[in-house]
Amino acid sequence: MEAVKIGLLGLGTVGGGTATVLLRNAEEIQRRLGRGIEVSHVAGLGIAQQSIVDPAKVKLTEDAFEVVNDPEVQIVVELIGGYTLAKDLVLKAIENGKHVVTANKALIATHGSEIMKAAAAKGVMVSYEAAVAGGIPIIKAMREGLAGNRIQWVAGIINGTGNFILTEMRDRGSDFNDVLKEAQRLGYAEADPTFDVEGVDAAHKLTILASLAFGIDLQFDKIYTEGISKITTEDVNYAAELGYSIKHLGIALKAEEGIELRVHPTLIPEKRLLANVDGVMNAVLVYADAVGPTLYYGAGAGAEPTASAVVADIIDTIRGMNVPVEQKVPLLGFQPEAMRNIPILPIEATFTSFYLRMNAEDKPGVLAEVSEVFADHKISLEAVLQKEAVKGESWVKLVLLSQQVREEKMNVAIKEIEALSAIKGEVVRIRMERLG
Ligand code: HSE
Repeated sequence: MEAVKIGLLGLGTVGGGTATVLLRNAEEIQRRLGRGIEVSHVAGLGIAQQSIVDPAKVKLTEDAFEVVNDPEVQIVVELIGGYTLAKDLVLKAIENGKHVVTANKALIATHGSEIMKAAAAKGVMVSYEAAVAGGIPIIKAMREGLAGNRIQWVAGIINGTGNFILTEMRDRGSDFNDVLKEAQRLGYAEADPTFDVEGVDAAHKLTILASLAFGIDLQFDKIYTEGISKITTEDVNYAAELGYSIKHLGIALKAEEGIELRVHPTLIPEKRLLANVDGVMNAVLVYADAVGPTLYYGAGAGAEPTASAVVADIIDTIRGMNVPVEQKVPLLGFQPEAMRNIPILPIEATFTSFYLRMNAEDKPGVLAEVSEVFADHKISLEAVLQKEAVKGESWVKLVLLSQQVREEKMNVAIKEIEALSAIKGEVVRIRMERLG
């Protein structure tokens, strides 16, 4: 059988990794697929300098549209990232009747509905396994492996750069910016690393996971997003004293009133497996009604781990090329006409526990005053940690852990605490999940 011809858009970290894996594992892939995969046309900047592809065998260009308009190319693999050019290229490829494989979470999270509609109309596939959690086959697991379940919640460490930074800060006391630079050097970070640090990348990925979990539209704009840039070593250490790790989580949860979609730093008990996912590793914990909890773990970024997911998608696409559309796995796991419009809850309507840190005057009765505020709002406390005053200072650090409470209730309590004359400055809050 003739080899399937692939057009590769982008020869950066993931593009280079994909070309390398396809070449190195060609024989093993052929054994699985029954035919070869040939990278026939590649677009990338400075392509002449790249040694990964052989210019004697592969057409090279700096104009990506040449690839999507190449009649020989059957599958376009989009690995350039970003929203605008990537969207135009993908839509053009679909219009030209080509299947698409992409690692672009920003594109799927923000323009996925339009792209998938166009793909359905044209009868081509759009695959995006590498868009979420790097090399972990989480899309396949949720869309196919868990298809018999009602999924209740998903909680994941889905940004490798952020997890790498938090781990290095905790284990080595490293400086935030130094670790970020190292993550960039290793090819983990986004082109704009504020996407990693401020939670945008994780929110893109959570948008996709939530759609797959609950059969809802892709709704990136409804996700509450908070990054890791305000996490201090002080909070990491206090959390550890109380038996918790701080991880940056994406959480999608079906509550009674609607769906919670939130990305934020989170205290989780140290004994949970997720608390021990370190460095660039990602993990996604899915709680479903029939199977209970299942956990998926692996490298969340990097050239070859991400390429692993891209190549799996290429293989799946080839296997499905002659399958009638009604027999294909739906692109978001649910039949398009069966997608539900379930309200996404504002952050104020979500329920979590809280870690709170404040500066309190070092005098009798302050703890009682603070406790009274919580009692007035019927918020139960689970732990209190009072640190000794630094010599010569009249303020102590007070750290509290609350039980689960509706966020808007906690907001009111925090305002009242900040207004107490014995409390100095703002109360630092970090949400907390037991993941039980
Ligand atoms: N910047 C992303 C991360 C790359 O660090 O997770 C993989 O999506």
